[in-house]
Amino acid sequence: MDLMEKVVSLCKRRGFVYPNSEIYGGNQGFYDFGPLGVEMKNNLKRLWWKWMTVDHENIVGIDGAIITHPKVWEASGHVKNFSDPLSECKKCHHRFKQDDLAENRCPDCGGELTEPRNYNILMQTQLGVIEGEKINAYLRGEACQTIYLNFKNVLQTNRLKIPFGICQIGKAFRNEVTPGNFLFRQREFEQWDLQWFCHPSEMEKWFDYWKNERMLWYQGLFTHPDNLVFYRHEKLAHYAEKAFDIQYSASPFDGSEIEGIHWRGDWDLSRHSEYSGQDLGYTDQGTGEKYTPNIVETSGGVDRTFLFLLLDAYCEENDRVFLKLNPKVAPYKAAVFPLLANKEELVKKAREVFLSLKSEITVSFDDRGNIGKRYYSQDEIGTPWCVTIDYQTLEDNTVTVRDRDTAKQQRLPIDNLLKHLLNLLK
Ligand code: GAP
Repeated sequence: MDLMEKVVSLCKRRGFVYPNSEIYGGNQGFYDFGPLGVEMKNNLKRLWWKWMTVDHENIVGIDGAIITHPKVWEASGHVKNFSDPLSECKKCHHRFKQDDLAENRCPDCGGELTEPRNYNILMQTQLGVIEGEKINAYLRGEACQTIYLNFKNVLQTNRLKIPFGICQIGKAFRNEVTPGNFLFRQREFEQWDLQWFCHPSEMEKWFDYWKNERMLWYQGLFTHPDNLVFYRHEKLAHYAEKAFDIQYSASPFDGSEIEGIHWRGDWDLSRHSEYSGQDLGYTDQGTGEKYTPNIVETSGGVDRTFLFLLLDAYCEENDRVFLKLNPKVAPYKAAVFPLLANKEELVKKAREVFLSLKSEITVSFDDRGNIGKRYYSQDEIGTPWCVTIDYQTLEDNTVTVRDRDTAKQQRLPIDNLLKHLLNLLK
């Protein structure tokens, strides 16, 4: 099995990620997060949110609706441009991007290909209940549009001045032509976005600032930060002076985008001003200058980060598999075991310790099988510390704490245990 297959299998087996609608044969491009996956994903989102809104001045958050007025997607250009010219094989009906084709023959079966045609990847839905009178609408193709729609609301209802940022974590939907590679290219996925509004003369400064900040943030999460690289785009949107991706560059994803740092200029606010007829300009209260704020966007994928972190963390050592996840990201921070499952006094004491930790950190209790198997089982889901209650505990109120990465143990008084774990998590 290659690394990707091992990670996909672990995700299913241990309850990180399940294929959506599996009992009906699956639903291509959709996945469900299981009990461990949702803990890990929530940890990631909490870390991102804290870093954006608490650790940076002048950034506030919103949580916008998934369906917007249909005109939004005309203004954004998605109705016209969110499409790929594709050629279809007349024999096997597989579709291919022009860039992927060396000749006019199907790479899968050798069949003849059609002329390229445009496929729009916005996902449509309908609003209303009366057949024949339903209105076509779209599930949002990118989360950021709701930020632009609320630019004026946020400005007016908060004490903010340019420069400032609005951030959001939310779902986006795309009818991807070739969904695949597990969580990498899905039809429903989550994005974390910052839209930073600034004076046009300060774009260069803020673009470089956010580009570096975002790289530092990802580097702090990954076990092998050297696998994160910048990629500079050559082909640019007409309003952009530059665009960079932060890429994960390790097997099996050599150079795949996690996040884009985009120079959006005044494109979005100008277009929404034009299409809505509302003035989305800004007046500097100090100088009286009126202008359309320019935007630096940082737009990343929650699910892609989740996947790359698992690939980055996967380790095999002799017969042991462990996820060397950053403890802040790991689903459980600790696991608590009685040394022997059939000794009532050990189980009772272990339950006490488990309950004393449970309200402060995510912690698992396990009294199945033998202690070695329990360690391995926690290693495989990335639990950084395992706490064991043994006979010595009953005498002196100390426990052993085993480290996931080194498998080394240390003895600690129970009274210090929570403080010790919280310190390690800082
Ligand atoms: N608002 C800008 C925007 O949406 P994007 O590069 O299309 O830019 C941003 O998307 C991020 O969303 C990407 O860097 C990627 O991490 C994630 N993403 C995009 N399409 C995805 C898909 N089909 N499945 C999973 N994640 C996706």
